[in-house]
Amino acid sequence: MFTKLPDFNKETVCSSDGYHKELPAFLFSNENVAGYISQFDMKGKTVLTVGASGDHLFECYAHGAKHVDTFDINYRQKPIMELKNLMIQHVPYEDFLEFFFDDANFFNPQIIEPIIPMFSMSLRMFMDLYYSMGSAGRKLFVYNGKSNFLAQYDNKYYSNQFKYDALGIELPKKISFTHTDITGISAHFTRKYDYIFLSNIFDFQHHEITDSYQALEHFYHHTILPLAANNLATENGTIVMEYLWGNSASTRGGMWNAWEEFSDKHNNKTHATGIQMRNMFLKAMLSLTNRDNVLYMTQNIKTK
Ligand SMILES: C[S@@+](CC[C@H](N)C(=O)[O-])C[C@H]1O[C@@H](n2cnc3c(N)ncnc32)[C@H](O)[C@@H]1O
Repeated sequence: MFTKLPDFNKETVCSSDGYHKELPAFLFSNENVAGYISQFDMKGKTVLTVGASGDHLFECYAHGAKHVDTFDINYRQKPIMELKNLMIQHVPYEDFLEFFFDDANFFNPQIIEPIIPMFSMSLRMFMDLYYSMGSAGRKLFVYNGKSNFLAQYDNKYYSNQFKYDALGIELPKKISFTHTDITGISAHFTRKYDYIFLSNIFDFQHHEITDSYQALEHFYHHTILPLAANNLATENGTIVMEYLWGNSASTRGGMWNAWEEFSDKHNNKTHATGIQMRNMFLKAMLSLTNRDNVLYMTQNIKTK
């Protein structure tokens, strides 16, 4: 048992208004991740993605990615990704569902007993922290920002045993994780990635700027462009800049208006810059009537 636990998050500075070191860690994503990753050609591709629950990473491997690096400001996402990675490879499908989605068996140590010897030091420490807290340990986690949640999507990596088992064969032994804030992120990575997934981190950046369009411009110049120049495949490299929930004609919102203006402006320059701003609507994660909307840019699109 590790009783005195270092909190790795204490050493970090975070530029995000909404996220900081004390926040509960995501166990599963609140985005329709499979919905948009399945629209991209992931076969043999390299990816940099926000870590969070690991669902981006798992969907990337499930759709054929060759290598995935993750980053997150919350250090506790690392043990969660590690735990899920080991479980998908070594624990039966039904047990995985019970461990995360069945209240009576939530984090039942018997389910993970066979994989405990494979735990890294940080995963051991995290699990010890959880078990030492008793029922309050549940507060360490959220699903889609809630304490308990079971999203039903037929396209997820854990939606059926076949997909789960197939993913177990593709996953690496160890997750690649860098503990960093998104600001200045470009300097932490040397690869050129085919895809970079930034989830909705943008929502929590630049709260000092009240105008959505200006905030987008700022994020574009300070985060997206350095990533595109240094870390993105020159041809067809794609960055998912923002995930918007619940867009529809009646709930457009400032951000969607800002994106239309922003993408129009940038796409007018397409021939000069080779950058194209696009978006895709998806089956919504949290609403039956609205659609979710993924905003992304691709550079130097190759036309056949
Ligand atoms: C933006 S949150 C929202 C949840 C996300 N939509 C999902 O489905 O997993 C995703 C992750 O971004 C991380 N994050 C938030 N702000 C960040 C920042 N400034 N730099 C790096 N990671 C950040 C959070 O710690 C969290 O794990």
